[in-house]
Amino acid sequence: MKYTYFCKKGGVGKTTITGEHASYLASLGKKVLMVSVDDQNSIFEMFGKSPLVFEREDNYLEHYIAKLATLEDILHPIRPNLYAIKTLNTDMLSKKLTLERPFEKQFLSVLKSLEAEFDYVFFDLPPSSNRTSEIVLDFVDTVILIVELNKLGVNGFFNTLQYFVDAGLNSEKIRYILPNGFSKNKSVPSVALEELNGMIKEHLETPVTVLSCMPEKSSIQSLQAKGVSVFDKRGNHLSSYERSQKAILKETMTQLYDQIQ
Ligand SMILES: Nc1ncnc2c1ncn2[C@@H]1O[C@H](COP(=O)(O)OP(=O)(O)OP(=O)(O)O)[C@@H](O)[C@H]1O
Ligand SMILES: [Mg+2]
Repeated sequence: MKYTYFCKKGGVGKTTITGEHASYLASLGKKVLMVSVDDQNSIFEMFGKSPLVFEREDNYLEHYIAKLATLEDILHPIRPNLYAIKTLNTDMLSKKLTLERPFEKQFLSVLKSLEAEFDYVFFDLPPSSNRTSEIVLDFVDTVILIVELNKLGVNGFFNTLQYFVDAGLNSEKIRYILPNGFSKNKSVPSVALEELNGMIKEHLETPVTVLSCMPEKSSIQSLQAKGVSVFDKRGNHLSSYERSQKAILKETMTQLYDQIQ
């Protein structure tokens, strides 16, 4: 199975929700790959693995496509059953994919060969639109659209739907919508959620599942700063408050991910 969480708007939680979903499935014993198509490679950071991004300059996805590196070279172990691949330069990759048709075939055959090795493959896309993202959005089985619960987030949702139409992408791939950043003490997220539900009814023809809202939780950021996933078995070096927050997030995220087929 191949998934991507997507939104054209930046900073809505794509990397966070992708990384934790991958970590959850790996904790269940599935063999899981995260392909960072975003050359920020921030998915490494949330697992405390940012040194892997810079330790060598010859083991990026591009080196594998060009047959300058083996799969073993580019596959970075992150946790038990969980691996990640880093990208060197998304713009350059996109340019090559736009200009050279045979390169697109080569890229797709690499994606297919990765799929064959894993139970689940997640693609962490950058917020912008580019040729690499379009090929990935076409390749995956399921797109989960993340919407940040505020006015700009809802605009980002609409822009993303428009982008699917403009780029000739199959909007039936959008099978789930995930509203992120709910807070029952604030009015903005509730207003945004109402507006979002109206837009879904109006603009999406095929039925989509609106997942339960991901709450706004600052503890997500504290755990990320320490390189801890909520599905990590150990958390010995965390404070007791952080450990309790981690347990709450684990339960919330488990309920969320169990809704996705
Ligand atoms: N539900 C949430 N509650 C609190 N903070 C959150 C939540 N979801 C994400 N964040 C925080 O928001 C910030 C942006 O998240 P993230 O990097 O996952 O977004 P992104 O969509 O991948 O961004 P980019 O577009 O730059 O790739 C991070 O600091 C993350 O910890
Ligand atoms: Mg990201």
